[in-house]
Amino acid sequence: MAAMGWKTIDDMDLAGRRVLVRADLNVPIEDGRVTDATRIARLVPTLRDILARGGRPVVLSHFDRPKGRVVPEMSLAQVLPALRAALAPAPVAFAPDCIGPAAAAPVPEGGVLLLENTRFHPGEEANDPAFAAALAAGGAVYVNDAFSAAHRAHASTEGVAHLLPACAGRAMAAELAALDAALGAPARPVVAVVGGAKVSTKIDLLKNLVARVDHLVIGGGMANTFLAAKGAQVGRSLCEPDLGATAREILAAAAAAGCSVHLPQDVVIAQEFAAHAAHRVVPADACPPDAMILDAGPATVASVCAVFDACRTLVWNGPLGAFEKPPFDAATTACARHAASLTAAGRLVSVAGGGDTVAALNHAGVAEGMSYVSTAGGAFLEWMEGRDLPGVTVLTRG
Ligand code: 3PG
Repeated sequence: MAAMGWKTIDDMDLAGRRVLVRADLNVPIEDGRVTDATRIARLVPTLRDILARGGRPVVLSHFDRPKGRVVPEMSLAQVLPALRAALAPAPVAFAPDCIGPAAAAPVPEGGVLLLENTRFHPGEEANDPAFAAALAAGGAVYVNDAFSAAHRAHASTEGVAHLLPACAGRAMAAELAALDAALGAPARPVVAVVGGAKVSTKIDLLKNLVARVDHLVIGGGMANTFLAAKGAQVGRSLCEPDLGATAREILAAAAAAGCSVHLPQDVVIAQEFAAHAAHRVVPADACPPDAMILDAGPATVASVCAVFDACRTLVWNGPLGAFEKPPFDAATTACARHAASLTAAGRLVSVAGGGDTVAALNHAGVAEGMSYVSTAGGAFLEWMEGRDLPGVTVLTRG
């Protein structure tokens, strides 16, 4: 058993055996082409290591949400060219079903067999034991390399792990180690940056973080709800006035836990949400009634960067402003670049993930500059909420 509580490929006997690899090939596709192959690239070391140990990888994944029916537009056959490109020259064959005789097809010599979308069967999301058994029949060992699907208690992420010797793949192990370094046993002080549009989607996450981190930077539209809860005028800004009491509760919990909350001191406002709209900087409590807050201002950026300077660990989820429309990307970009430079200098462990975060970091040109960037959306958020992820828990059952 590995130190962190789950087995890895190194602990398994793979020679000559079919190895079911749960991947997350739920990748973005436009006009039949994969537009971001990061999840595929991260799966490659696991598949190569299994091959190097004489194993025969059989890849399982969901794609999109077909809800238990065969939906041809959601076939994993679309991902095949990108997987082949990533694994070349190793051959990749495709089976048109993930259970039954089709899934029992031979794995090409020195290559991989990709099975059709697990969610074409209702038993997948129901975590139906009979369906899990049918999946398990396709292999002798189970490797989960899909952290980003580990918040789902589905047959291919959870059920099947009870039926076969199970372990974490390389990407899963790296992700769990990075997350542990960020919130499990981090170097302190720890700062969390939480941005994005709405408090309502991140209440549990904020409540968990205030108990675990030393500094909490709140940005994006959700900061407006906190500013309004403290009596500031936020004009026509994105805001959830009904959540005022929740925001005050979170601030009180932070104070009780000794967590310093950093809200914007100054903000960038405009009359319209459009790229290059006329804009100006005002104090955070002085947004005129006809204007909206679209980014944090330069004084806020300077103080967030100073917090980063004083910390040794950073966990980042969500942009600080409306980064899709310049110049309202300025605060996110400046803070992300500062985090990357501290990371490069060995002064900060920086872990980011969830929803828009990867897009915002790519936009700032610093995704490569963080210690670890998760490709997970919902799973990253649930982890930040402190919840058990069924696909991870089952790997640690001993
Ligand atoms: C993701 O893209 O976040 C994962 O593949 C999970 O997808 P789901 O939200 O459809 O379960």
